[in-house]
Amino acid sequence: MMKPDSIKSNEITDESEYQQRHQWRRNFLRGAILAGTAATTTMLYRRLAVPAGSIRQAAGKQTGSQPAADGAVTQPMPDYASPEGESATDYDDITGYNNFYEFSTSKEGVAPRAKNFVTRPWTVEVTGLVHKPRTFDLDELLALGVEERVYRFRCVEAWSMVIPWIGVPLSRLLSLVEPMGNAGFVAFQTLFDPQRMPNQRSSVLPWPYVEGLRLDEALHPLTLLSTGIYGKSLLPQNGAPIRLVVPWKYGFKSIKSVVKIRLVEQQPPTTWSDYAPEEYGFYSNVNPGVAHPRWSQARERRIGEWSMRNTLIFNGYADQVGSLYSNLDLRRYF
Ligand code: MTE
Repeated sequence: MMKPDSIKSNEITDESEYQQRHQWRRNFLRGAILAGTAATTTMLYRRLAVPAGSIRQAAGKQTGSQPAADGAVTQPMPDYASPEGESATDYDDITGYNNFYEFSTSKEGVAPRAKNFVTRPWTVEVTGLVHKPRTFDLDELLALGVEERVYRFRCVEAWSMVIPWIGVPLSRLLSLVEPMGNAGFVAFQTLFDPQRMPNQRSSVLPWPYVEGLRLDEALHPLTLLSTGIYGKSLLPQNGAPIRLVVPWKYGFKSIKSVVKIRLVEQQPPTTWSDYAPEEYGFYSNVNPGVAHPRWSQARERRIGEWSMRNTLIFNGYADQVGSLYSNLDLRRYF
């Protein structure tokens, strides 16, 4: 992993060149995907992009199917469509093109390397500034009630997907532990276990991966602890058995394979903004008007489509979340 300031400008792949190569590669690989020819994209991304990562009822459209407690949908697969009629990204793309550095820095390398990752038993410890600290096992979490939400998902690297998630609203879990009055933020932590997550033996990032939200963001009805996609349980590459989903923020906020949630008073450290603070902010709200220092955020490549589309402020969720930031300078607190 290269530090951003160690990359010479002539090494950074031009974005359109990258996109063309990426599209070509996708088409080429479609038949032979996961065949082990994966290194190219990651190297490009690492140079280009990665220094490389009910207050109101949810706006995510409910599809009407009834996910069972184990994450399986008991009714026929619904016609997955986002609120604006954008169709959901192919299951194979969602599960074959991943960022999960604990397993691999190659997007196509994650799924094969994570495939034997054991996700049961699994517990999530919720502690810190709460009146009722509690450790939930996976079945207890699922028993809180899973919902189905189709959200846009926008990576800071300027690609996006539409994903039919299932999961538990984070607010439901937080209300059970009763946050104290002085809790201001929520800190999340991924499992640290280099035996099971082999890339944690490398120093590609500081481990464990950590993330954070302001408490009001964490309580927002759009914020989900996801346990599945397309009506099926999450696969390891997508952050099984439980990962955060915050659809109005860049994808790296959506921390995978969470084992600890801690309520704290001050803004907690987060992996990418600690690693490269000038490139990745704590807030990381999707914002076409604030460029990444090395590329524009105005447009994005929807995986599975040829042409670029305009990126929407707050990833299209401004009506739901804009008011959270009315007092915040979005350029300064990017
Ligand atoms: N969580 C952990 N623990 N480790 C990671 O490397 N990558 C992040 C985020 N959560 C990451 C993580 C990034 S950069 C993105 S874009 C999303 O996961 C990718 O999620 P997906 O692979 O399910 O699309």
